[in-house]
Amino acid sequence: MEQKKIIIDTDPGHDDAIAILLALASPELEVIGITCVAGNAPLHLTEVNALRICELAGRKDVKVFSGCDRPMVRKLVTAEEVHGETGLDGPDWEEPNMELQPQHAVDWLVETLLDAEDQSITICPVGPLTNLGMALVREPAIASKIQAIVTMGGGYFVGGNVTPAAEFNIFVDPHAADVVYRSGIPIVAMPLDVTHKALMTKEWINTLSELGTEVGIKSAQMLTFYNRFDLARYGMAGSPVHDPATIAYLIEPDLYTGKDVYVEIETRSNLTMGMTVVDYWGARRKDPNCHWVSEVDDAGFFRLMYDRLATL
Ligand code: RIB
Ligand code: CA
Repeated sequence: MEQKKIIIDTDPGHDDAIAILLALASPELEVIGITCVAGNAPLHLTEVNALRICELAGRKDVKVFSGCDRPMVRKLVTAEEVHGETGLDGPDWEEPNMELQPQHAVDWLVETLLDAEDQSITICPVGPLTNLGMALVREPAIASKIQAIVTMGGGYFVGGNVTPAAEFNIFVDPHAADVVYRSGIPIVAMPLDVTHKALMTKEWINTLSELGTEVGIKSAQMLTFYNRFDLARYGMAGSPVHDPATIAYLIEPDLYTGKDVYVEIETRSNLTMGMTVVDYWGARRKDPNCHWVSEVDDAGFFRLMYDRLATL
């Protein structure tokens, strides 16, 4: 099987952590690097959390890079109310032995992509798009090297989760998102429209704990902490575990259904800043710039995650 080369751009973050574990547990994918960004927590925490997750997966070989510590234009907004003071509250974490790579994530992205064959690398941003946006501004020629951007972010039918209009990743850095959505690179978006249709239950979390492995136990501890916020906010039967949707899509795309649409990012209005303005019905007659995913086989998604995490 030819492995798909991917770069995960991330702000771990509990759901980011599960996405990273899922990717590292899946032989279909070759994680050639993990680039960290400020988002759920400040960069000095998200970078350490990325190292922790690689060590948890037994993958000290993975290259982890520190990237941008604030959005392109706006002031950084973080989400301690969801992810806790460490950005990965729940388990008792040791300090990681792994070290960050010395190169800045944006420099590594540019260098790696320029050296790559055309359309050979898939980028999976599951945090604010600052690193990728900055790399595209720095060196637009990297666009032709990217096979696709498979990203968690945005919302249309569901609206937002930070404001009524905006989802967190886009809200934190709408200007970077604007650069990415105007880039012409094929984009597959996993917005709240689909992540809110795969709700994680306490029972499912318990099946991870019952694996009895360090990955299973720590994943259950992370997700138990993470679950409380959305259960309280939405009063749903479970909480959306957003970021792994990008990785699950790469492994089993048939789990998902979407539509090619034109998406624009609001970067001016204070009321709707960071809104993904989705022309779902083609009113503007613009060529689509995104495959907007809105349906998921949720049972299949949780089966895939369980089966793969059980191998670590
Ligand atoms: O809105 C959900 C997204 O924001 C997820 O990527 C979560 O990790 C946070 O970054
Ligand atoms: Ca994230």
